[in-house]
Amino acid sequence: MNRALVTGASSGIGAATALRLAADGWNLVLTGRDRPRLDALADRAGGSAVAADLTDEDGLQQVIEAGRGVDLLVHSAGIGWAGPFAEMEPHHIDRLVELNLAVPMRLTRALLPPRVAFVASVAVVGVRDEDVYAATKAGLRAFAASLRYRGVTTTAVFPGAVRTPFFHGRAYDRRFPRMVEPDRVADALVDAVLRGRPEIFVPRWLIAADRLHGALPTAFHHLARRFG
Ligand SMILES: NC(=O)c1ccc[n+]([C@@H]2O[C@H](COP(=O)([O-])OP(=O)(O)OC[C@H]3O[C@@H](n4cnc5c(N)ncnc54)[C@H](OP(=O)(O)O)[C@@H]3O)[C@@H](O)[C@H]2O)c1
Repeated sequence: MNRALVTGASSGIGAATALRLAADGWNLVLTGRDRPRLDALADRAGGSAVAADLTDEDGLQQVIEAGRGVDLLVHSAGIGWAGPFAEMEPHHIDRLVELNLAVPMRLTRALLPPRVAFVASVAVVGVRDEDVYAATKAGLRAFAASLRYRGVTTTAVFPGAVRTPFFHGRAYDRRFPRMVEPDRVADALVDAVLRGRPEIFVPRWLIAADRLHGALPTAFHHLARRFG
């Protein structure tokens, strides 16, 4: 049976991905910090639960040991920070870069499984007041693309807004894109992994924003400022 390690499995997109993989018959290693939520998920999805803080050296090591030999690694653990960049304290910058970017790199290096999926974000095109968050996700995209040269089949997933505890009570006040459910992201992620697709956007039409940003960055910024 195929084995997968899912980070951020205690909540949101990671939990939905774990349930979808379990339904497809995968054997799972589930990790997150919240032990009761992880145990509850393991009851439903099967597999083993490793409660650990990935930014803690011992915690990361514990997860590495539990994940040895997995066929698929799904990086979903991540945090956000929104607000004027000048008001962002240096320790917040470090924390975002560490959990969202350095941890996926270190975990991938330690396990080097044949397939790796990254939950990035459509924020890779740059988002007002989410400067550092956007940069960590753009970093994941470049990392995923580079790993392919090493023969690792990577899938980078770029969701828009997803209905999870990620916003921590912050109101989601953008007009676009509309929020989607985490199951939709999980299904798209697993289908893309099975097909070996390098990149997917959820919802799909968000690819238009990415392509416009790539081809005409000035026009993109003009439109993004105007339409939020
Ligand atoms: N929600 C959105 O709109 C959206 C859109 C685009 C991309 N994303 C990305 O999707 C991914 C999953 O987010 P989500 O929406 O599912 O949010 P979520 O429900 O808040 O889940 C975040 C997960 O990350 C784990 N985590 C946080 N800090 C950790 C740490 N130090 N060590 C280990 N695990 C840690 C959490 O574990 P505990 O709860 O156990 O602490 C939780 O399982 C993130 O990378 C996020 O950037 C989200």
